[in-house]
Amino acid sequence: MGTRFLGEPFSRSFKGALMVWCILLLLIQCSLAATSNKSSHHFYKWEVEYMYWSPDGLENVVMGINGKFPGPTIRARAGDTVHVQLTNKLHTEGVVIHWHGIRQKGTPWADGTASISQCPINPGETFDYRFTVDRAGTYFYHGHYGMQRSAGLYGSLIVDVAEGEEEPFQYDGEFDLLLSDWWHKSAHHQEVGLSSRPMRWIGEPQSLLINGRGQYGCSLAAHYSSDNSSLSQCDITGHEQWAPYILRVDPNKTYRIRLSSTTALASLNVGIGNHKMVVVEADGNYLQPFETDDLDIYSGESYSVLLKTSQDPSQNYWISFGVRARKPQTPQALTLLNYRTNSASKFPLSPPPVTPRWDDYAHSKAFTNKVKALDHKTIPKPPSTYHRRIILLNTQNKMDGYTKWSINNVSLSLPATPYLGSIRFGLKNGFDQTTPPENFTVPYDVMKPPRNPNTTTGNGVYMLGYYSTVDVILQNANVLAENVSETHPWHLHGHDFWVLGYGEGRFTEAEEKKFNMKNPPYRNTAVIFPYGWTALRFVADNPGVWAFHCHIEPHLHMGMGVVLAEGVQRVPKIPNEALSCGLTGKKFMTGNNF
Ligand code: C2O
Ligand code: CU
Repeated sequence: MGTRFLGEPFSRSFKGALMVWCILLLLIQCSLAATSNKSSHHFYKWEVEYMYWSPDGLENVVMGINGKFPGPTIRARAGDTVHVQLTNKLHTEGVVIHWHGIRQKGTPWADGTASISQCPINPGETFDYRFTVDRAGTYFYHGHYGMQRSAGLYGSLIVDVAEGEEEPFQYDGEFDLLLSDWWHKSAHHQEVGLSSRPMRWIGEPQSLLINGRGQYGCSLAAHYSSDNSSLSQCDITGHEQWAPYILRVDPNKTYRIRLSSTTALASLNVGIGNHKMVVVEADGNYLQPFETDDLDIYSGESYSVLLKTSQDPSQNYWISFGVRARKPQTPQALTLLNYRTNSASKFPLSPPPVTPRWDDYAHSKAFTNKVKALDHKTIPKPPSTYHRRIILLNTQNKMDGYTKWSINNVSLSLPATPYLGSIRFGLKNGFDQTTPPENFTVPYDVMKPPRNPNTTTGNGVYMLGYYSTVDVILQNANVLAENVSETHPWHLHGHDFWVLGYGEGRFTEAEEKKFNMKNPPYRNTAVIFPYGWTALRFVADNPGVWAFHCHIEPHLHMGMGVVLAEGVQRVPKIPNEALSCGLTGKKFMTGNNF
């Protein structure tokens, strides 16, 4: 029992109105909500539609929610229920929304993954996402069908600690920054290119967006540059859709800045002029606090940093985000840390922090190695042994002239019937019944992989023993074209994993001795560095079918993912509306299994 909100959550300016409304109309219910520490129910009615918007100053078409881009922020407390009633107003395509970082315990059909947890919601239709947010942290949501994340379907999801609980750190104020990248060509344009033979790559994004706002063709910090080829100074009133989201702060306070990256492609690095950050949270789990000048954030990751406003309060400071791990052709995203003691239009004394060189991997690894779990009641310790170890080799391949990404030489192509239904009802024609490979062939040089092996596509599932401990070793290798290996952030649905270690070259059993069993970070996304490996461990304790994939959207689209399942027979009754397509749809219509 608790308060029930209609439509979007109320912003600060609505709080007064809410109070009056409460007193006049719902005296009893409001006082009940105020005195009870119990969880609340948050109801949102959302319509997804294409609309005109100027994310970076250039008018374009974006996927918005309730007329907004990015979509509304969901804010709840740990233990609360979130209910999003989503109506598809796209007219010509299906849609689903995934709640990234929410484990969906007991509600695997609400995970929002097309072909895995549900059927795409058809134009005009409504689907109810109802789930518990069981743990405080910084999360986000995004489209998980086709390339709808590139098209702009995303927003923030912030979970505060339950009433009466405390965070293991203190702060006076908070900012939520959702990071994304933006192309001027549509997601459809990008998709057709990826699916063409030969592949046509759309190229690097035109802009980086902070809370959906970026600047194209001008720069907020142009006047520092002496280089005359550079961009002109942006002329902004502050009311534009693409005006920067400025962080207005008071001196001598501590602020929590929540950062999440829902980029389709870009790996980012953030720096704040003259200020250090203390990193305290990653993917909804507390970290041993550590201080840093700059922070790498890969797609699918989230962090909280604490910032002390201890610098000269008569100045403002730049906050910059730049591209890492790919040769950047996208300008830095900029905004201001504005000490309210002066005007937001006052330029900082020095130019924006410079992003570390894109290929300075030593810098990235040094940062990653500082990320350690806090010793805290909310973070379990890893089991000391595993039941099953799956080694996943990541390669770029060709298949009949198409370019694919493959895992152990199988490129994922999703089936028409959601796995959750196929497995639950034993529909053997729903997907490949053979288990995908657990490993790759032994004499394999990750530095010089064989060129153009003909990959295969598949959609088999790794069936995991319920409550078994599973190790996954992600193994990187060379890409096809040049002598390069890319960075891939892998994201697991339905679970957190312990990141036991990172290493160079090919993984060997001997490296196990170096695993961090003491305080490995517990999170849902971890990166593999070029030519390296990353070792993960998790417990298959969440009945359902779960995607595990590279969070770079074009890579996933080209097959860079696998599907895991556990305990599907223990899943409570799956709502029929999640499965009314493919073979499950046919089953509902005829009563027969196919
Ligand atoms: Cu945020 Cu399967 O993704
Ligand atoms: Cu990738």
